[in-house]
Amino acid sequence: MGCGGFIGCHLLKAIFERTSWRVFGVDLESYRIQEHLANDRFEFLCADLADAAVVERIVRYPVVVNLAAICTPGRYMAEAAEVIRSNYDHPRALADACAKSGSWLIHFSTSEIYGKTAADSSALEEDSSEIVLGPVTASRWSYATAKLLTERYMAGLAGLNWTVVRPFNFVGPFMDFMPGVDGEGIPRVLANFSTALVRGESLKLVNGGVAKRCFTSVHDAVDFVFCLFAKADKGVGQAFNVGNVDNEVSIAELAGLMRSVFASVKGKPENDVPGVEVVSGEDYYGKGYDDSLRRLPSVAKAENLLGFMAKIPLKEAIEESLRWFVGHYVDAC
Ligand SMILES: NC(=O)c1ccc[n+]([C@@H]2O[C@H](COP(=O)([O-])OP(=O)(O)OC[C@H]3O[C@@H](n4cnc5c(N)ncnc54)[C@H](O)[C@@H]3O)[C@@H](O)[C@H]2O)c1
Repeated sequence: MGCGGFIGCHLLKAIFERTSWRVFGVDLESYRIQEHLANDRFEFLCADLADAAVVERIVRYPVVVNLAAICTPGRYMAEAAEVIRSNYDHPRALADACAKSGSWLIHFSTSEIYGKTAADSSALEEDSSEIVLGPVTASRWSYATAKLLTERYMAGLAGLNWTVVRPFNFVGPFMDFMPGVDGEGIPRVLANFSTALVRGESLKLVNGGVAKRCFTSVHDAVDFVFCLFAKADKGVGQAFNVGNVDNEVSIAELAGLMRSVFASVKGKPENDVPGVEVVSGEDYYGKGYDDSLRRLPSVAKAENLLGFMAKIPLKEAIEESLRWFVGHYVDAC
């Protein structure tokens, strides 16, 4: 599910390159996976996960990876009810069907379920960190609340073989969209800053860009899923953080790095690259915006149980992503 999205397209490619498996994939869109549509090991269905008949087809397979979701922050305030349907109602129906069929459900949740963490918060532990989500008036938390409830539902559902993946800011080629070209609204920060750089506009630092995140290459994320496939016995019934703790930066630092990488990709002096501009969260995203100031994962569980550790350094991940973005949207500006 969601095989046509950012993570899905990388996972699909890796499955075809590294295995001889057959894949049944469902998504509402397919432009990122055009190269696989003629592959005779791939059956693609352009359909909505909200359709019960689609769910029935999906759960005929022994392993189900659910990546389908509305997951861009710009939509959490404006379309909270739709975000909750997408991140709770649909995965709950899928979990029910997997519990009946016996399929192993690998569900992509989010690091946002850890909620409103403070600037000095310590590493987030999958099974013991306390969780504080913002008030209902701060509708930014619609996504995290729905994802958290789905996790709780899956963990409590008798007969379900489940694994939860909590991504910490994956980055790479094909992430999100360029507004007005192949999507509308506000994409996540990597595509947001990339768009500003390519268009020669200032990079908007929401609330000063002091919040910190651990940016993680999507290739590390794919490797994690393969470690999980290889050690299913250790992964069932567990939630895993997937993130790169060595790549922690503030959003202001990320903007600085992206400006410098963009200058080198374009062969320009850094002074000729767009600068930054501080904006308020509510002005930029709308009423109901809120944030968590630090999101640092504990990664010991994935290492101890699955032997997985993210490896790709921040600069390499950003360079790959920006080079791709500049090349992909070369005709769009
Ligand atoms: N990329 C990250 O850093 C990150 C961080 C936290 C959580 N996640 C989670 O990982 C998963 C995948 O994220 P992504 O970055 O690939 O997102 P994405 O938006 O690129 O991909 C999601 C895909 O799901 C599809 N989809 C949405 N609703 C659907 C529906 N009703 N029926 C069928 N298809 C539907 C979309 O068309 C899209 O192709 C999501 O659950 C997301 O919440 C990702």
